[in-house]
Amino acid sequence: MTIPKEVTSSDEATDSNAVPYYVPEPPVKAGTFKENESDPNKPAPTIFKPLKVGPLTLQNRIGVSPMCQYSADNEFKATPYHLIHYGSFLTRGPGITVVESTSVSEYGGLSPHDLGIWTDDQAKSLKPIVDYAHSQKQLISIQLNHGGRKASGQPMFLHLEQLADESVGGWPDKVKAPSAIPFRPHGNLATPKELTIKEIKQIIEDFGDAAKRAVEISGFDVISLHAAHGYLANEFYSPIANKRTDEYGGSFENRTRFLSEVIDNVKSKIDITKIPIFVRISAKENSPDPESWNIEDSKKLADILIEKGVSLLDISSGGNDYRQPPRSGIKHTEPIHVPLAREIKQHVGDKLLVSCVGGLEANPEQTAKFIEDGVFDFAFIGRGFLRDPGLVWSFADKLGVRLYQALQLGWGFWPNKQQIIDLIERTENLSTKD
Ligand SMILES: Cc1cc2nc3c(=O)[nH]c(=O)nc-3n(C[C@H](O)[C@H](O)[C@H](O)COP(=O)(O)O)c2cc1C
Repeated sequence: MTIPKEVTSSDEATDSNAVPYYVPEPPVKAGTFKENESDPNKPAPTIFKPLKVGPLTLQNRIGVSPMCQYSADNEFKATPYHLIHYGSFLTRGPGITVVESTSVSEYGGLSPHDLGIWTDDQAKSLKPIVDYAHSQKQLISIQLNHGGRKASGQPMFLHLEQLADESVGGWPDKVKAPSAIPFRPHGNLATPKELTIKEIKQIIEDFGDAAKRAVEISGFDVISLHAAHGYLANEFYSPIANKRTDEYGGSFENRTRFLSEVIDNVKSKIDITKIPIFVRISAKENSPDPESWNIEDSKKLADILIEKGVSLLDISSGGNDYRQPPRSGIKHTEPIHVPLAREIKQHVGDKLLVSCVGGLEANPEQTAKFIEDGVFDFAFIGRGFLRDPGLVWSFADKLGVRLYQALQLGWGFWPNKQQIIDLIERTENLSTKD
């Protein structure tokens, strides 16, 4: 039996100095394509080819989509739970892991147990997660967000659409949005107050300050901006949530001004040639309202994002109209956001990386083919990673590809099945000789 290791028995495992405890640094970062010794000329499928994003190289094109855990402490800080949760992905080699929606402002959290980053202490609480990522040579981003009219809700594992009042740490009276329109008429979330211009400008500053903290204190590699799913930035560009008559409402230019100014503010406080910006949008609102935001609007927005130097546009949809039909009721021939991502990618070409999210783990071969064919550049996956933190390996397995793994986990992937059978047979032969 050959032991095809990148490390030999005489090698010392290098201690990673990114964390203040012993952990061996992987010689090659987990999730990197590994040549097959029996067929060294077999090329990597594109999904397992590196992707350059500004100065960064993602070792493959499968990322962990941001997913709220509603598990922050009472000061909106990360705890050991988050280190364990994100650590489980980070050890197993996604191209990038995006930490969940994290509020940039005191009253912007989606729930009282969201992560926050409006203080330096909150940013410090995220540093151990980033340091762990770097100890594994992995890339990590944070999704900056403000919940707008959907702030101060209950953690979604308790209730999908329920106000968190003061008795559970919520702030219903401080919920603000572009217009005083609740998500659902007579619904269970807060009725927001309309933001004043001064408050809008403050939240824009909050995004920039949060990005600076995320980079300078926590050490994140990429800043992701949440402009989807009916949260504040999405509410601003949506004609159904934004009925303002000042410079932040009305025309397309006015409705997208908030997001534009957020990006400008972030750019004034971090160096985007070193720290790329990703933006997630709802490319359409899935609303019966003919006035609602649509794919043509998204293409126009993509042009603005290109001009501003955004590196990647992540395509999701919906979340801003309570009349949106349940996803389970929609019949799709391909995963839900693929047609939207395809249109956007065709529009932007090589000027912008486009990622897609939603149901992409169900059929790894199909997802790999989308990437191979240039339908989009990168696959974000959410729930699949919750079920299987080693999802990148599962993709590799399905595609007949081998990957480098963290040193500690190697034995889970090697020997392969045939070698285990050989090993068992040899052991049995030895025991029968006795
Ligand atoms: C538990 C949970 C929490 C989520 N939290 C966020 C979030 O913080 N930010 C975000 O942009 N999307 C969030 N989403 C949406 C996911 O990132 C993803 O877009 C969605 O689940 C569809 O992808 P999937 O089919 O691969 O899960 C969340 C989804 C789940 C299941």
